[in-house]
Amino acid sequence: GEAKVITHALARDELSRLRDVETEQVEFRKGLVRLGRICGYEIIDGRMETEYVAIQTPLTDTMGERVKGLGDVVIVNVLRAATPFVEGLLKAFPRARQGVISASRDESAGMADDGSFPISIDYVKLPEIRATDTVIVADPMLATGSTMAAVLEAIRSQGTDPEQLLVLSAVAAPPGLVRLNEADPGAELLTVAIDDELDDDGYIVPGLGDAGDRAFR
Ligand code: PRP
Repeated sequence: GEAKVITHALARDELSRLRDVETEQVEFRKGLVRLGRICGYEIIDGRMETEYVAIQTPLTDTMGERVKGLGDVVIVNVLRAATPFVEGLLKAFPRARQGVISASRDESAGMADDGSFPISIDYVKLPEIRATDTVIVADPMLATGSTMAAVLEAIRSQGTDPEQLLVLSAVAAPPGLVRLNEADPGAELLTVAIDDELDDDGYIVPGLGDAGDRAFR
């Protein structure tokens, strides 16, 4: 599917702080948590329905509203940079079931002619995914898209066909969008920014550097 940009002013504010080279480890990690929460709220606002329910205030009976389907959400954490991002998402989806996939780029191999990196997937642990679920695969960076293509393949290989399969990133680069769309046309990308390009090492420019390193060391 096509990419959708999350344009909430606070998301842009948080992302700008994450981009800033002066933002050090603790603030970077907390910023990813805050951004995850905002993205979660935006996902709820944009693609989940509400239903009317009868409630009683201390004074009278009235109608209230509830978000439907909050019990049918699966969040997949793509280690390791997604960990603080997922922590924020969980504030919007406290009842989400969680999966974990460890995937990393083999940087030493260098970028292949088709602009991809070899990806090693070392660990996959997913909850049961049902046809009624919204699955959110979180990874702050979509650069060449090699990681996400491999992650989605791992998820689909378990026979997964949820109602919505969303890929959530903070920053995406155009080659990653193309690769993702080719690899899994049924997945929909949500991102806070689509940046200009990749450099020769496959880093997003302007980007925010290596999110895993900045959050964890
Ligand atoms: C980074 C990032 C993505 C991936 C994006 O992870 O968190 O997972 O690279 O690049 P791609 O779209 O070109 O595949 P990295 O492999 O550095 O692992 P880390 O999260 O453990 O640091």
